[in-house]
Amino acid sequence: MKFLKKEISGSVVSFFFIFSPPFKFLLLYVPSMKKFLYGIDFGTTNSALAIYDEETREIHNTIIIPSLIYFYDQPGAVNTTNYVVGEEAITAYLADNMKGRFIKSVKQILSRSSFSETRIQNKRYTASDLVAIILRELKNRADRLIGQDCRKAVIGRPVFFDDDDVQKDTLAQTRLNKAAEIAGFTDVRFQFEPIGAAFAYEKSLVKKENVLVADLGGGTTDFTYLVLDPEKVGSKDRKNDMMANGGIYVGGDSFDSTFMWEKGTPYFGKNTQYEASPGKVLTVPKSLFTNICSWEQMNFFNGLRIKKDIEDYYYFSGNDPQFKNLMTLIENNLGYSVFQSIEKTKIMLTNADTAMFKYHKMSININEEIQLIDYEQIISKDVDRVASYLDEFMLHNGITPRNIDSLFLTGGTSMVGSIQKLFKNKFPHVNLNSGDNFKSVAKGLAYSGYLFED
Ligand SMILES: Nc1ncnc2c1ncn2[C@@H]1O[C@H](COP(=O)(O)OP(=O)(O)OP(=O)(O)O)[C@@H](O)[C@H]1O
Ligand SMILES: [Mg+2]
Repeated sequence: MKFLKKEISGSVVSFFFIFSPPFKFLLLYVPSMKKFLYGIDFGTTNSALAIYDEETREIHNTIIIPSLIYFYDQPGAVNTTNYVVGEEAITAYLADNMKGRFIKSVKQILSRSSFSETRIQNKRYTASDLVAIILRELKNRADRLIGQDCRKAVIGRPVFFDDDDVQKDTLAQTRLNKAAEIAGFTDVRFQFEPIGAAFAYEKSLVKKENVLVADLGGGTTDFTYLVLDPEKVGSKDRKNDMMANGGIYVGGDSFDSTFMWEKGTPYFGKNTQYEASPGKVLTVPKSLFTNICSWEQMNFFNGLRIKKDIEDYYYFSGNDPQFKNLMTLIENNLGYSVFQSIEKTKIMLTNADTAMFKYHKMSININEEIQLIDYEQIISKDVDRVASYLDEFMLHNGITPRNIDSLFLTGGTSMVGSIQKLFKNKFPHVNLNSGDNFKSVAKGLAYSGYLFED
């Protein structure tokens, strides 16, 4: 049997000449499988997948979904599966009157050694099981687009999953690897997320440059300093081009948490006073409110124990209406919707000097005007942490502004005004570039196929 390969309108077709009597020859043509690999950016807020065609060396398509899972309150009533993922998770959660289990920012539990599993409808889910649900959703959607079961992927990881703790970091990557396996991937490589972002930017360059990439996401801010050279796109040896990597566990979620602490919790009774013993009036413990400021706590904390304490404080506060809001929030799972309002306010403030922080549900009524100047003050500690980390990162790696030809900012949080200012002030003479804030990393990961050559 002989065959020849020909490129026909982008797809490879193999012609098979079969010499078999009684026919002189039979001409068959069978489309041979195209080769793809997936670049996957599993993010705290959004997860993206870029489909890379290994023959044309181009991105074939990109998919993006919010990193959300909703487990129905009554499985089977709405659907045959007991959960939904992505945009649909929000719709189902709201349609279910927020009664089921809504999981957000699941990436943050990857590095938590204290988290082993959570029970949902009498089923145990490890961190890998939960992450696998999101990866599988992305894989299924992409597989449907290409009509294949693609098991090869470059998966992104932050430079540090948490703080600079090697054990936690190893745990997180092991769990992510396991999640990829559960989701059906058999050939997986990991790449730092900011390097992914850098490779996406490299495609737009015309000359070699030393670039500082900052990827500011929901959970983390990552930096990489590297040499980008358009002539090297897709080349196998890129190790010597990576000059420095670093990251910090601060992102858009931190801004939202701080905002919740400063502006949200007073509406939920942070300043409520109660009678601890006859004549002794105290303010309710602030620790009660840390739970409603962080998604990780809200997703997995044991509500029952806290509920009893809250009922006692409520009683001894003389039924304080603000404190009642805290009970309403917890009993009705309103956390996500409150954070949606907070995020909305943040996004409005990227283009305006003032925005309304609004929330109206059940007994809770928030309607407060927020000035940009106040918002910037609220998030200043988080922004300062990014700024001091960047100084440290540059000092430690011997990088001066003069060594940087251009800056590339990506990730949703790069749109926040204070963040833009930080970079403009620090590098006034350096070109500031940005690409697709939500898809750059996935695309660049997909350009990292060289990792499979090792
Ligand atoms: N227009 C906007 N202005 C300001 N912030 C925004 C805007 N759009 C999205 N964000 C914020 O960007 C963050 C999500 O960004 P992104 O999708 O890059 O994060 P991620 O990749 O999921 O997170 P990570 O990389 O940390 O795991 C969220 O905190 C979101 O609130
Ligand atoms: Mg990201």
